[in-house]
Amino acid sequence: MPLRGAVLLLVVVVLCCSTLRRAASDLAADQAALLAFRAAVGPRLPWDASSASPCGWRGVVCDNDTGSRVVALQLPGAGLIGEVPPGTLGNLTALRTLSLRSNALSGAIPADIGNCGELRYLYLHGNSLAGEIPEGLFSLRLLLRLVLSNNRITGGVSLEFNKLPRLETLYLEDNGLNGTLPADLDLPKLALFNVSNNNQLNGPVPASLAGRPASAFSGTGLCGAPLSPCPSPPLPPPSQSPPPAPAAQGSKNSKLSVAAIAGISAGAGAALLVLVLAAIFLLCFRRRKTKADTSTETAATGGEDASPPATVSVAKMMDKSDTTQRSRSTSQTMAVNNNAKKQLVFVGSEPDAPYELESLLHASAEVLGKGWLGTTYRATLEGGVAVVTVKRLREMPTPEKDFRRTVAALGALRHENLVPLRAYFYSKEEKLLVYDFVPGARGLSSLLHGPNAGRERLDFTSRARIALSSARGVASMHGAGASHGNIKSSNILVADDADVARAYVTDHGLVQLVGASVPLKRVTGYRAPEVKDPRRASRESDAYSFGVLLLELLTGRAPVNSVPGIDGVDLTQWVRTVVEEEWTGEVFDASIANEAHVEEDMVRLLQLAIECTEQRPDRRPAMAEVAARIEQIVDSAVRKADSDDFHSVSAGHSSA
Ligand SMILES: *[C@@H]1O[C@H](CO)[C@@H](O)[C@H](O)[C@H]1NC(C)=O
Ligand SMILES: *[C@@H]1O[C@H](CO)[C@@H](O)[C@H](O)[C@H]1NC(C)=O
Ligand SMILES: *[C@@H]1O[C@H](CO)[C@@H](O)[C@H](O)[C@H]1NC(C)=O
Ligand SMILES: *[C@@H]1O[C@H](CO)[C@@H](O)[C@H](O)[C@H]1NC(C)=O
Repeated sequence: MPLRGAVLLLVVVVLCCSTLRRAASDLAADQAALLAFRAAVGPRLPWDASSASPCGWRGVVCDNDTGSRVVALQLPGAGLIGEVPPGTLGNLTALRTLSLRSNALSGAIPADIGNCGELRYLYLHGNSLAGEIPEGLFSLRLLLRLVLSNNRITGGVSLEFNKLPRLETLYLEDNGLNGTLPADLDLPKLALFNVSNNNQLNGPVPASLAGRPASAFSGTGLCGAPLSPCPSPPLPPPSQSPPPAPAAQGSKNSKLSVAAIAGISAGAGAALLVLVLAAIFLLCFRRRKTKADTSTETAATGGEDASPPATVSVAKMMDKSDTTQRSRSTSQTMAVNNNAKKQLVFVGSEPDAPYELESLLHASAEVLGKGWLGTTYRATLEGGVAVVTVKRLREMPTPEKDFRRTVAALGALRHENLVPLRAYFYSKEEKLLVYDFVPGARGLSSLLHGPNAGRERLDFTSRARIALSSARGVASMHGAGASHGNIKSSNILVADDADVARAYVTDHGLVQLVGASVPLKRVTGYRAPEVKDPRRASRESDAYSFGVLLLELLTGRAPVNSVPGIDGVDLTQWVRTVVEEEWTGEVFDASIANEAHVEEDMVRLLQLAIECTEQRPDRRPAMAEVAARIEQIVDSAVRKADSDDFHSVSAGHSSA
């Protein structure tokens, strides 16, 4: 028995050792192949040949679980130059991702690429590769994405492509392909396809591709649907397949929790007096032309869809009151107000002193933004004593009782990252909300996408700080049982607080107020897939919208129609695709992508954004957790920025 045991143990040990040795030798072979690759084309690769394993090398990713092999090689824009010889890439037989885009590789695609049977993602675009697509490539049966654009590849498009049944992306544009596309070409999974700018390519478009956009074939000699008909013979009618649309499914959940927030109270402070004054001037305006405040500040709004700010006098502003949206005139509003039955209502506490109507009449107002919820003004009291933001809501069907209850609850919310609602006015014809004005604040939307966005560069740490204060603001609402319902970049105000970016969330709860009249399409892009009615926002749907906001901060792209060349793909979809393809570095806004010392923090924030934008509401993290995680990211980024190690960046590119 002991002998048997010992033999068994020995067998196990021997087996283990041989497995280990094989793993080690495979990794050593990968290392040798990589070094041969570098010797041939990578003079600038900072790889340390003396290291025991290639796994820590730039652009090299190992899978440490399954016996240590190199599974990804990502060297975009790494200064690779020349021909890739056989026996290099072809020896990396565990490779799943190969990205050598944007280099100066020439010669043919190595014929032994076919040995890399695990390859799923192959990106060789933006080189000078020539010759035909090698036969071996068609043995890569697991291939999902093949991008060969922007090379000098010649020859025809082979029917052999049918051997790649899983292929989803086939980009061949900007090459020198000639000949025809095989009529029987059939790639059932193909989602993205492009052969434009191969001007020697001619003949009919295969039936299976007839439903593609014409732009996928531009700059070729191809004919037939979707292009103009071939001279002869006529083609069979195209089988139109609709473009892939973002999946919007899921269940409605949660509810407006107005009742829950109603109990919370907070002091409104002495500032109320001026707030009242400012609001009253809007109601009881007298035609007195006041020279408008000509501040150049833009969009410190609390306004959605910030339109270019316009400075107007009080009189003008009231003249311009959008009569299309209002059945009653302002004078009637005044009459109602003078009835004294309807008054400005303070949320929080009553003002200490009675206000003076007269002083209001000298105030000047400036339109900060117009949106589908109403128009936002900045009102400056005479002598510049105080400034408030007044939101004049569009006409809405919400019953008075609901309106008052909801606004009272919103007014009870107080947090350093929420723009405080101080007072409101309600009449049949006119609904006004008075908020604190955040001095020096700008809409995040205009900071990211406005005309000056390029010049006023927001670095990663500032973006992360904006994300942090916004997350805290939203989390505070959630903690009080409320939800925001309309999180988007134009509802985030950013101010520099001692040179540190700080954000304020505004317009919280207004979607619920405006009610059924909200056009659903106005909130697409940020809207969680399960939300069919914007009033039914939940904490989970807020988390989703917040995730989209994070993606917007990281990519610098607006949430809809922001991806060039791909219509109808939203930001979350696009980011997921890119990340899945392991081009993570590509998603970041160009102006932060090179901040290499915070690369890891950027990826962590990206990961968090992806979690927030999960399709299933129950998979999204709570906003309190989101805030806590962003706080760690900010801390880490700030520490690294302090240590200021510039030497860690080399060629100014991120490793895919
Ligand atoms: C690649 O693999 C082949 C066959 O196993 C081997 O002969 C060759 O030396 C390897 N190339 C390198 C650079 O290790
Ligand atoms: C694999 O191991 C290497 C070296 O031990 C390490 O640098 C690398 O981060 C590990 N990779 C993963 C994905 O854990
Ligand atoms: C395509 O171009 C290659 C190389 O220039 C040439 O050898 C081949 O004959 C061409 N094929 C067709 C069908 O024109
Ligand atoms: C195909 O590529 C061309 C050139 O890059 C581009 O203009 C066109 O929009 C692309 N079309 C599709 C459907 O991807």
